[in-house]
Amino acid sequence: MSRNLENLVVYQIYPRSFQDTNGDGIGDLNGIRKRIPYLHKLGIDMIWITPFYPSGGKDNGYDIKDYKAIDPLFGTMDDFKNLVKEAKDHNIGIMLDMVLNHTSTLHPWFQKALSGDKEYMDYYFFKDKPTNWESKFGGSAWEYVPHLDKYYLHLFDTMQADLNWENEKVREALYDVVKFWMDLGVEGFRFDVINLISKPKEFKDVVIGDARDQYTDGEKVLEYLQMLNKNTFGTKDLVTVGELSSTTVENAASYVNPKNKALSTAFGFHHLKIDYKDNKKWHIQKPDYSALKSILRTWQDSMEENSALMALFWNNHDQPRSVSRLGDDINYPFESASMIASMMHLLKGMPYIYQGEEIGLPNAYFESMDDYRDIESINMKEILSETFSKEDVVQSLSAHSRDNGRTPMPWDHTKHYGFSTTTPWLKFSQHNNLQTVSDVLEKENSIFNWYQKLIDLRHTETIVSKGKVFWPEDDHESLLVYGRSYGDETWLVYNNLEDKAVSISFETLPQTIILSNYNRKELKSSMTLNPYESLVVKL
Ligand code: NOJ
Repeated sequence: MSRNLENLVVYQIYPRSFQDTNGDGIGDLNGIRKRIPYLHKLGIDMIWITPFYPSGGKDNGYDIKDYKAIDPLFGTMDDFKNLVKEAKDHNIGIMLDMVLNHTSTLHPWFQKALSGDKEYMDYYFFKDKPTNWESKFGGSAWEYVPHLDKYYLHLFDTMQADLNWENEKVREALYDVVKFWMDLGVEGFRFDVINLISKPKEFKDVVIGDARDQYTDGEKVLEYLQMLNKNTFGTKDLVTVGELSSTTVENAASYVNPKNKALSTAFGFHHLKIDYKDNKKWHIQKPDYSALKSILRTWQDSMEENSALMALFWNNHDQPRSVSRLGDDINYPFESASMIASMMHLLKGMPYIYQGEEIGLPNAYFESMDDYRDIESINMKEILSETFSKEDVVQSLSAHSRDNGRTPMPWDHTKHYGFSTTTPWLKFSQHNNLQTVSDVLEKENSIFNWYQKLIDLRHTETIVSKGKVFWPEDDHESLLVYGRSYGDETWLVYNNLEDKAVSISFETLPQTIILSNYNRKELKSSMTLNPYESLVVKL
C-alpha cells in the first residue's frame, strides 16, 4: 500500500519500554499489539519500531547479530506477523529500523572475519594501523585484534563494527535483509546513521576534532542510497526516513529530493543542539532561540526549494524529553508541552511522535548515577569525571542522557504503572507529578487531546500538509512565529517559547482561532500571549 507522504504521522516505539506482556520487565511485540487500539485512538498512521532483532545487548538493539530474526526478549516471528496484521486492521503501517552502517561483533560475518577469513574481513574495515578518530561513544574508533594484529573500525561501541559498503557483497546482503522484511508486509524503513555508510578511500589522522568530517556525508552516500532504493523499497514505493548524523542542509536535501530517488524523508538534528554549549553535547546551555528560528527556517526553505520533506520531531530514544528540555514540566506541563508540539507539527514535513510525548512524559530525574543503563551515559560518566566536577557530571547526565527518553511508559496507577508485573529494566521517570496514560485520557483538555487535534489537522487541512511556510518578522526573542499559505488561505502560528508574557499585534484581525492551548475565544488587534501560549489563527 502506498501512503501519502504529506499527511502521514508516525509514532515511534522503543519496544523495550513500551509494554511488557510476559512479566520479564522488558516490553515486547505482544505489548505493542495490545496497545494498537490506543494508538488508533491517537490517530497516527505508522509505527516506527526501534530494533528488536537478536543483538549483542550493548546498545539496546543497535548492535545486531541476526538481521532476519526476532530477539526472544521481544517475542517470536509469529508475534511479529500478528502485530503487522493487527496494525493493518487499524490502517496503521509498520516501519522498521534498519541498522546497516554496522553489525554487532557477534554477527556471523564478523565472527568469520575474526577467524581470519579474508572474504569476511573485507565486509568490515581491518587496518594495520589505527587513525586518531574518536568513537561517538567515547574512546578510540579502532579496536585492536591481537591474533590478527589488525584494528577494526567502530564509529560507535567496540561491539558495533562498521560495514564496508564499497564491497558489493555487503550491499547485496543488506538488500536481502530489507527485502526479507518487505515480504512480511512492512510499509516503511528508518535507516540508522545512514549518512555514515560511505567511508573515505584513505583513512587519515585529523588535526582537530573527533574526525566526523572524515566519514560524515561521504562521497558515495547518495549513490549507495539510490542503489538501495532501486534494489529494495523503491520497487514498492514505501516510506523511508534516513537518520542523518551531523549532516548539512545541502546533503540532507539531496538525499530526500524526490528526483534523486533515494529516501522519502530524513531526520536532521541541528534544531536539537540549541542547548549544547559550543556544539558539545555534555556542555549544557539555555536553549538558543535565535539559533532555533534560523535553523528551522533554513531547513524548511531548503526543503521547499528541493520539493523535499524533512521529518519533524523533538523526541526520540536518544534525546531528553522536550517538555523538560525546552518547556517547564513543573509549572506549565500542559502549556509548554502543547506549545512545543504545535510549533513542530504545523510545519511542512512528516511529524514523528515518540512514545510518551502524547502524555507529556518528562525526563528521568534519576536520583542515583547507578540508575543509568545507557552505554553512552555509562562511558561518559567515566570520561566526563576527568574534567568535570561531580555535580557537573550529574547535571550533564540528568539533562542529556539518552535514558531520559527511555524510561518505561506509565500506563496507569497499578503496580509498576501497568507497564509490567515486575520491576522494569530501567526505572520509571522519578518526576514528582508523573502523569500516566490513564490520567491523561480522563481529562478533557489534555495533551493527548492536543496531539489528536494536530494529527487531525494534518490529515484534513491541505494548508498543513501542502501549504507554503513563510516567516513574518517577529521582534521578540522568545516568540517563534511562522505562517502557512495555500491558495488564498493563510494561517499564522504563534508560539511563546518562555514563561513570560509576550505582546503581539495583528495588522488585520484574523477571522478564526484554529488552535489555542489557553482555550482563547476572542482575538484583539493587540494581545498578550500567556506563558508558553500557542495560538494558531486563520487570516
Ligand atoms: C542512532 C540510534 O538512534 C542510536 O540509538 C544508536 O546508538 C546509534 N545510531 C548507533 O546505532
